[in-house]
Amino acid sequence: MVGLKSIVAGLLALAFATRWLIRYVSIVRFKRKHGCKSEVRIPQVERIIGYDLFKIQMQASKDKKIIEVSRKRFENFGNTWSGSMMGQRFFNTIEMENVKTVLATNFRDFGLGQRQESFGPLLGQGIFTTDGVQWEHSRALVRPNFTRAQVADLDTFETHILQFISKIPKDGSTVDLQTLFFQLTLDSATEFLFGASVNSLSSKEGSEQEKFGKQFDLAQSKLGRRSRLGKLSFLFRDKEFDQACRDVHVFVDKIIADALEKAQPHDIEKSIDSTGEPWRYIFLTEMLNSTRDPKRLRDELLNILLAGRDTTASLLSHSFHLLARRPDIFNKLKAEISNELHGEKPNYETLRNLKYLKYFLNEALRLYPVVPANGRFAVRDTTIPLGGGPDGKSPIMIPKGTVVAYSVYSMHRRKDIYGPDALEFRPERWAPEEGLRPGWGYLPFNGGPRICVGQQFALTEASYTIVRLLQEFSAIENRDETPWQENLSLTMSCGRGVKVALVPK
Ligand code: HEM
Repeated sequence: MVGLKSIVAGLLALAFATRWLIRYVSIVRFKRKHGCKSEVRIPQVERIIGYDLFKIQMQASKDKKIIEVSRKRFENFGNTWSGSMMGQRFFNTIEMENVKTVLATNFRDFGLGQRQESFGPLLGQGIFTTDGVQWEHSRALVRPNFTRAQVADLDTFETHILQFISKIPKDGSTVDLQTLFFQLTLDSATEFLFGASVNSLSSKEGSEQEKFGKQFDLAQSKLGRRSRLGKLSFLFRDKEFDQACRDVHVFVDKIIADALEKAQPHDIEKSIDSTGEPWRYIFLTEMLNSTRDPKRLRDELLNILLAGRDTTASLLSHSFHLLARRPDIFNKLKAEISNELHGEKPNYETLRNLKYLKYFLNEALRLYPVVPANGRFAVRDTTIPLGGGPDGKSPIMIPKGTVVAYSVYSMHRRKDIYGPDALEFRPERWAPEEGLRPGWGYLPFNGGPRICVGQQFALTEASYTIVRLLQEFSAIENRDETPWQENLSLTMSCGRGVKVALVPK
């Protein structure tokens, strides 16, 4: 009996050693063929589990300093290095060429990893969570609905802005604009997607709409934790999360059932629909032209709601965090708005003439990118072009199953791209005469085939909001002297909110 056990153990060990050897030889050959050299490895106690790094990251997360700790590592170890954390080997880079390779040139060598497993219970399978052919279908379904005409329903957006303005104290008392921005973008995104806003800025305590908003926020906040567990996300058990997902689904399913019953497919160019009502763009109605599958519709709508809501709110929050601390920039923006619009409400065309506002938003997204770090999993053995060898100029092998992470936040603060004043908030750097052309070194909306589909929508909405608030208020007072702090969930917002007072004109 003992003899049999030893034989089985011996055979297993042999099988393991042979597999390891075959893999080792194939890696050596692969590296030789592609001219790959070794990268810098950050010092770690051990690299199999990488628990030491996990502990450091947990502490940084508690201190709300994850993003700055990561930037310091790039300063210490260079633009590309590797490490291990909780059994996952990863490479981290802020080299533009590497990021371009992962997101565009070698797009097919990389995927989203466990995003589907982590986000699936809330979002199902849609543009934000799937890879490969499934993602291509989603993208083809969703993309055409984001053309210029459809993102410019500013009249409807104005109703939400008026509601927002009504929530701002006019007596000089302090308000947290960030909380209001998250409500504003939920209201406008649900209006655009479902054709009916949840009106969280005005909805009554206990209403169905209010419950939806709360349960969506709750489910989303737990997605961050699920995704940090990576491969182990199936271990995440949380009744509140399950209930929140159910509530969100019931709410959206009802809207979809209603739309399926009522909606007439119509021509996008028409300004009057078949019922005689003025035509209004509704994302759901447009999607009915391509699919009538309720689950498919729910998944895509929730994917877009998740991708589009917090992101725009975070950009607006950072914008006002900055404006509250820079009266010079506040006044410069105000002057431009008044010179160009003469007190009129903006429209899509007039927003385009506001050059300084564009530089301002570029600069806010540079120093405070809403998605500050991201990554992709290698689906086969592949390479990135830089980071190998003593000078970091040779390619690195990226073995199948490892992650290439990239820090947009740290890349946006590189002095060799943005100059010695890279850490300074200076919108003027984006004026054409300054000749700044960062290419892949500026990536707030990602790049390549998965570039953000809502970029124009977000910039229009953020610009409109800033213009209208600067038209309604003559000054802004900062009511928080503490330095900026990160609040990292799926996106990055202001850790201490945006506490200000606004002075009516
Ligand atoms: C300031 C606002 C926004 C920023 C900074 C932003 C940024 C990004 C980034 C970095 C990604 C890539 C994520 C990844 O692949 O890991 C992305 C994807 C996406 N964004 Fe945005 N986004 C914003 C607003 C919006 C809005 C308003 C919408 C829709 C209404 C939207 C819809 C999407 C969708 C659907 C994707 C997935 C695209 C795909 O994978 O093919 N985004 N966005």
